[in-house]
Parts: sequence; structure tokens; C-alpha cells
Amino acid sequence: MSGNNKGKKSDKSGKGAEERTAGGSGNHGALSRRRLLGGVGATGAAGLVLGAAGGATGYAATRPEAPTALTSVGSTQVMFHGKHQPGITTPLQTRGHLLAFDLAPGGGRKEAVALMRRWSDVARRLMAGEPADGGAADGTAHDTGISLDAGPSSLTITFGFGHTFFDRTGLADRRPPGLDPLPPFSNDRIDPKHSDGDLWVQIGADDALVAFHALRAIQKEAARSTRVRWQMNGFNRTPGATARPMTARNLMGQIDGTGNPKPTDDDFDRRVFVPAGTGSGYEWLAGGSYAVVRRIRMLLDDWEKLPVERQEGVIGRRKKDGAPLSGGSETTPMDLDKAGPDGRLLIPDNAHSRISSPEKNSGAAMLRRPFSYHDGTAPDGTPDAGLLFICWQADPLRGFVPVQRKLDRGDALSPFLRHEASGLFAVPGGAAEGEYVGQRLLES
Ligand code: HEM
Repeated sequence: MSGNNKGKKSDKSGKGAEERTAGGSGNHGALSRRRLLGGVGATGAAGLVLGAAGGATGYAATRPEAPTALTSVGSTQVMFHGKHQPGITTPLQTRGHLLAFDLAPGGGRKEAVALMRRWSDVARRLMAGEPADGGAADGTAHDTGISLDAGPSSLTITFGFGHTFFDRTGLADRRPPGLDPLPPFSNDRIDPKHSDGDLWVQIGADDALVAFHALRAIQKEAARSTRVRWQMNGFNRTPGATARPMTARNLMGQIDGTGNPKPTDDDFDRRVFVPAGTGSGYEWLAGGSYAVVRRIRMLLDDWEKLPVERQEGVIGRRKKDGAPLSGGSETTPMDLDKAGPDGRLLIPDNAHSRISSPEKNSGAAMLRRPFSYHDGTAPDGTPDAGLLFICWQADPLRGFVPVQRKLDRGDALSPFLRHEASGLFAVPGGAAEGEYVGQRLLES
């Protein structure tokens, strides 16, 4: 990391228009503004991101071909080392790859240690905008060269461990209770081949080639000791596509992320990250989190037939600006008791926002940080598209599970959704300098 970089505590991307024209060295202010205005949802979550000018300088030093004036989108660097892994509170990225791997037959702890070392090394380099192998000065000798002309582009690589990982590595006594398999839900149509896995990797970047470059590097390092179990590819809005910073929309056209916990909330860390001092041999997970991953197909042909007013009733928020149907703007708290002149609740009884709200779930909350996906047309001729729903919480039994239980009993959105794949992963805290991800578990 170059000396002139400034670590920035920043809020989630609102991705303002100024970024389109921002130059590499003169846009530090533009970047800060972008980072300060948006959210993982609306106001979002903090992530440690390097300033644009520093990112560009550091990158050009290792890649002579790189232009000197990367835009802030290209030059933004997220820190690999830190208390938490990157990719949890990092602003939503344009492109995402989710992969699960199983250790190859005969593989165990030794192979897992070697792999996590190599993966951490590669992640650290790539997130700094360096070649994957750290070798050739021009980055072409062993590196695939796929991202040769680009900056780090907010690349993050996040690693998690599934339930089976602990049996494979002889660490069953270190498996935290939070990794107990999720209960079945009545509307589940889960394909086991695209679910679970020993190891999980989430790759996100604001450039599709940078993300694919990371994907190839991660796969290459894993080839000897693992088999790919499943892969899912997703996307979000491109930075600068909207005239002002906004919460992202999903493929149903809704503003999605408004109700997320905010890093400025007093209880944000308590809700999202596993605390230290839990004892019982799970101390290795302090600073970590649990990721619930669900591939949720949207039945878009049916959804799109609904008039907008009915779509709004399904969610309990206005489609245009995400404002609750009880009034105000996107950030106005929902008034769940407010009725219209006809005496009916303005936010209907079965509205998705009402049923999933912490108020109606004994405070249960999670940080939703999804990617949309579109994998062409399903055999029945409908779009194979939806949400790669990823939510982060300190304990799935106080986050995803109770809320999904309630949604499953019948919110108004459920008839338009189909949960097709599922995973639950323990995501260790961030690696300190000189450490690899998961070291506190694997060398305990
Ligand atoms: C494809 C599936 C889904 C879609 C399209 C969807 C869409 C939405 C939308 C549009 C909102 C309102 C805006 C916001 O607060 O973000 C919302 C809120 C929310 N959703 Fe979902 N959702 C989906 C699945 C889920 C699942 C599976 C869960 C958890 C089990 C969940 C939990 C929540 C929560 C906690 C809120 C915030 C409620 C609040 O505090 O206001 N959603 N969702």
C-alpha cells in the first residue's frame, strides 16, 4: 500500500454521477462524497476504502501499462486486512461471483491450511491491484492478464466455512452452534447440488473483468485440493448510472435495502458481527459473521402482470422512491398502525416490509447485501432470474431464521418467489497483517 493512501471510513456507495468524469488524482473529494452519501441499502454500511488518488498511484507503480488517470471507480481499493473481512460492509458492487468448494477426497486440515494461505495471499494482492502471483513486474508472466488495464475497482474476496468443513478438517469440536443446518421452509425448492459446501468464496468488484480475473485466480489456487461444488454469478447497478446516490433496485424494480441496519446504529456490530469472549472454543470466530446465501428465483412473468399499486401493497412501500405507504420519504420510519380513511392499514397486514421488520420479529435483524442474477430462460420458458440473497448476522437464529419462518407462513411476496438453493457459512474475522484468513481456527 503506498504511503499517500488514506484509509477512509466510508458509507455505502450511492454511486453519484460525478464519478463518470472523475480523474485519478483530482477526484478524492468526489470519491469521499460518493462513499459518504449512499448505503449498502439507503444509508448503508461502512467499509474501509482507500482514497482514489492513492489507489491510482499505487496501482500504476506495479502496472506500467495502467493509465495514470483511473476513474474513482477503477482506483478505489478496499483493505484486505482488518477486524472484519471485506465484502460485508463494503458498498454493493457491480459484479459478483459466489463459489462453493468441497475439499478433494483424502484432503483434510493440512490441505485446508495451505489453501487458505494461498487464497489469502492472492486476495491481498488482487485487492491492492497487483498481479495474482506477485511475480512479473509487468504482471503478464503467470497472471492471466485479464484485469491488466484496470485498477482494483473495489474488489473484495471473502471466505467462509460450511458445516461439513469442520468434519473434513477434524475440527468438529470447533464448529459453532450457529452453523447448525437451517430448518426446512414450506416453500423451499432447494437443489442440494447448488447448496452448502465445505468452503465459500464471495467475489465482488465494480468491474466485470476484475471480478472474473479474481475468480480465475481463486479457482487456480484451489484446483489441486478442491472440487468446485457450485457457482453463481450476479450483478448490481453500475457506479454513476443514476443521477444521484440511491439505494439499489432489484429485478422486480423495487428499491431494496432501505430497512438495513446502519453502521451508525448503536447495535450494528452486535447484530452483524460475532463478539469476542463467547468462550466455548468458538473464539476463532470473533469479529466474524454468518452469511446465509439463498438463490431466490423471481416469478417475473407473474409479478409484472400486477398493476403498480398492487405491487406496492405487496411490499408496503412505493415503487418509485421506496417511501413507506404510511407516508413520508424513503427514510421515514414505517408507521405500521396507520390506517386510511376506510379504516384499512396503509401498510397491509401481509406486506413484506411489515412481516420482515425487526419490530414484528422481536428485534431480529440482518444486513442484506445481495446481487441480482439472470441465467437465461428456464425449461418452462420463464426467465431464470432473481436475487442472490446474502444476509449477514451475528447469529442466524436471531437473524435470518425467525424472519424467514414468518415470511414462509405467507407474506404477500412469497407467491412470486421460489427459494432454489441455500447455504450457511461461518465467515471468520479479517486477517491481521501477516495472518491468513481462518488461521485462528486452523492453527488452534
Ligand atoms: C427475492 C426475494 C426478496 C425480495 C425481492 C425482497 C424485497 C424487499 C424489499 C423491496 C424490501 C423493502 C425495502 C427495504 O427495506 O429494503 C424488503 C425489506 C426487507 N426484507 Fe426482503 N426481499 C426478499 C427476500 C427476503 C428474505 C428471504 C428475507 C429474510 C428472511 C428478507 C428480509 C427483509 C428485511 C429484514 C427487510 C427490512 C424490513 C424493515 O426493517 O423495514 N427479505 N425486502
